[in-house]
Amino acid sequence: MKKDFLEITDFTTEELWETLELAKKIKDEVKSGKFIPRLADKTMSMVFAKPSARTRVSFEIGMVQLGGYALYLSPNDIGIGKREAVKDIARVLSGYNDIIMARLFDHKHMEEMAKYATVPVINGLTDYNHPCQVMADIMTVWEHRGNLDNLKVVFVGDGNNVANSWINLACRLPMHFVISTPCGYEPEQWLLDKAKNAGLSTVEAIADPLEAVKNADVIYADVWTSMGQEEEKAKRLSDFAEFQINAEMLSHAKPDCKIMHCLPAHRGEEITDEVLDGPNSIVFDEAENRMHAQKAIISFLFGITK
Ligand code: CP
Ligand code: NVA
Repeated sequence: MKKDFLEITDFTTEELWETLELAKKIKDEVKSGKFIPRLADKTMSMVFAKPSARTRVSFEIGMVQLGGYALYLSPNDIGIGKREAVKDIARVLSGYNDIIMARLFDHKHMEEMAKYATVPVINGLTDYNHPCQVMADIMTVWEHRGNLDNLKVVFVGDGNNVANSWINLACRLPMHFVISTPCGYEPEQWLLDKAKNAGLSTVEAIADPLEAVKNADVIYADVWTSMGQEEEKAKRLSDFAEFQINAEMLSHAKPDCKIMHCLPAHRGEEITDEVLDGPNSIVFDEAENRMHAQKAIISFLFGITK
C-alpha cells in the first residue's frame, strides 16, 4: 500500500520522530559535504496552483541532493479542476513519476489526487493545511532547544492553514499550544476538539494576544491574508491590527522566546522588521529546514528511514 503525506496526522508519533531523526541526519550529511543518493532515479512532479518560493525550491533542490529529479508545473500548466479533472491528472502523473507533490486551493482536490494517484502524494499546502511547513517548524524548534520538553507554542494571527497543521501536530506530539486570533478568525472548533481529545497536549484559544504569549517558548506568525483571500485584505488589516508581533508583544513572553514565521512575511503588518530581524528570530533556519524535513518525508514515503 502506498503512503501519502496530506496531513501531519497521516504519520504516527513514532513515524514523525523517525522522520525528524532522518531529517537531522540528512541535514548533518549535507553540512559535511555528503550527498547520499537515497532517491537515485526517482522522479517527482510538482503541481502548483498557487505561487511559491520556498516550497518549489526546497523540493526541487532537495530531490537533486538525493539523486532524483523534480519537475515544476506552474499554475498555468495544468489548470487543475478546470482544464483537467483532478482524478485524470493524478492517474496521468502516476504513469510518469514515482511521487507527486501538489499545492492546491481545495483540500478535497488534494484528497482526490491521493485517492486516484497510484504513487505517493505530498501536500505542499492547501486552503486547509500545510503539513510540510510544520514538519520543518518542529524540526527547527527541536534543533534550537535540543528537546521538545514542556514546550509552549503560541500562534498569533489568523486561524489558517498553517495554524491547522500546528493543531494537528499537537495531536501527535505533547505541547502547550495556544492560538490567539481576532473574533471570527478562530480555527474550526472540531479541529481544536480533535487535538484536545487526542489527550497529549493542552490546546487553548485565548483572544487576548498579550495574555496568550505569557511564558511562550515560541511565538509563531503567518500572514493575515493568505493566498486566495486578497479581496479581504483591507478588512483583515483592520481586524488584525492588535495582533502584530512587535517588541511590546515579545516583552510579555519568555526572554529567550523564539520567533517563527513560515514566510513570506508582510513586514510591518503581522510582524515588525525589528522582531523578524532580531536576535529571537529563527525564521531563516526554519526556511532552510523545509528542504531537510521534506527530503526525510519523501524518503520515508519510499520506505527509506536511514
Ligand atoms: N512557507 C512557504 O510555503 O513558502 P512559499 O509559499 O514561498 O512556498
Ligand atoms: N497562510 C499562508 C501560508 C503561505 C506559506 C497562505 O496560505 O498564503
